[in-house]
Amino acid sequence: HGAPRAILRWQVRRGDPFSTLLSGRQGLHDPYPLIDELRGRGGMIRTSVSFATFDHAQVRAILRDPRFGVRPALNTELPAPWRKLAGVVTVPPNPVEPPSMLVLDPPEHTRMRKPVASAFTPRAIARLRERVEVVTAELLEAMPADGSVDLITDFAARVPIAIIADMLGFPPSDREMFLRWGDKVTPLLDLGTSWRTYRAAMAAIETMNDYLADHIATLRRAPGEDILSTLVSSGDLSLRELQAGASLLMGAGFETTVNLIGNAVAALSAHPGQLALAQADPDRWPDVVEETLRFDPPVQTTARQTLEDVDVDGVRVRANSTVILSLAGANRDPAVFPDPHRFDIDRRNAKEHVAFSSGVHSCLGASLARMEAVHALRALYTRYPDLRLRGEPVRRNLFTLHGFEHMPVDLGPVA
Ligand code: HEM
Repeated sequence: HGAPRAILRWQVRRGDPFSTLLSGRQGLHDPYPLIDELRGRGGMIRTSVSFATFDHAQVRAILRDPRFGVRPALNTELPAPWRKLAGVVTVPPNPVEPPSMLVLDPPEHTRMRKPVASAFTPRAIARLRERVEVVTAELLEAMPADGSVDLITDFAARVPIAIIADMLGFPPSDREMFLRWGDKVTPLLDLGTSWRTYRAAMAAIETMNDYLADHIATLRRAPGEDILSTLVSSGDLSLRELQAGASLLMGAGFETTVNLIGNAVAALSAHPGQLALAQADPDRWPDVVEETLRFDPPVQTTARQTLEDVDVDGVRVRANSTVILSLAGANRDPAVFPDPHRFDIDRRNAKEHVAFSSGVHSCLGASLARMEAVHALRALYTRYPDLRLRGEPVRRNLFTLHGFEHMPVDLGPVA
């Protein structure tokens, strides 16, 4: 009876506010009232699908606690017929086969992360700044004269993909393909993915892995200056591991920063006073980016698996339980951030947010994402100080990754 019980345990039950949060329209559009309600139930709560916490102290502590591991999602564990019956597949966080560092515990995790870590240190990232400025300037100069553009597809999505593709040695002509691949794969991060979406994602992953195998073979013959060439030449990682690493870096490199830039524009448009502060002093853009990460994080949740029985503030969580960690919930916890629903770039402790997670899996690309967003936003608003939203932005139909698919804007005159 193992499989049917597992299905019951995992299936999203109607009426559970947690399921509503993860799969409903409100959770997509404005998750924060539901998040407050769930945090109000106190610390670690039990839901129809797992445990969950929205509490800053608990989220942070669990992310740093070695008794909580990561492990492949349900979809690789249930036998195929049961998966189909269940109608829903996957619990975060593993969409990619073979496993990348994101879904490995130490010591395997360390072996995968260490060889790429040096390319992402703040110092290494500072050297990419000029490249980000060039990419941004080119994009802005190519904007149509009437100033009517989609801020997401014409700008926010284009900066990060250009940079990460360069870093990994992919030619500019492949960027579109990666964007399409990303659209197919990202829904896997969400709970309750339909079987059809799941299959489409798996097909995209397969195509991508074939493409990567060819690309890696080319780099073996003629290595470049890029990160992937260095990894390939070191001979320390297998082809499967190289594929996993490259797709994680690509996906994480562009699917998140696009949301950071878009969410910042949305927040600034809704808070003209805060925008005025940044426009009056270009040194305030890092504060805008940090407060956006806290206020409206591009990655809303992650999950961990208990490796043993754990007591969390009096709640007993048995071994092999899934615990959903709401990064967005932690970032709006009034115990840490006074008046948490206010977007306020003067906040002293915005950096205590967990938008980049914490502990061994804390985001490798954090410095890169911050740098890209600061320069993209500063350049955008310097060239187009009167930028305004034109109509309602359209949300991405995703929960874990939180951002916009389209954001029509009027750029206004060039400054
Ligand atoms: C991991 C968020 C940009 C690469 C993570 C995690 C989060 C996150 C929350 C950890 C998930 C967990 O603990 O389970 C973000 C956000 C970004 C961003 C909000 C942009 C605003 C980037 C960029 C890269 C990147 C630009 C660069 C390639 C990675 C990698 C990991 C990771 C490789 C896995 C680290 C590990 O497992 O050790 N990111 N990320 N991220 N991120 Fe980012």
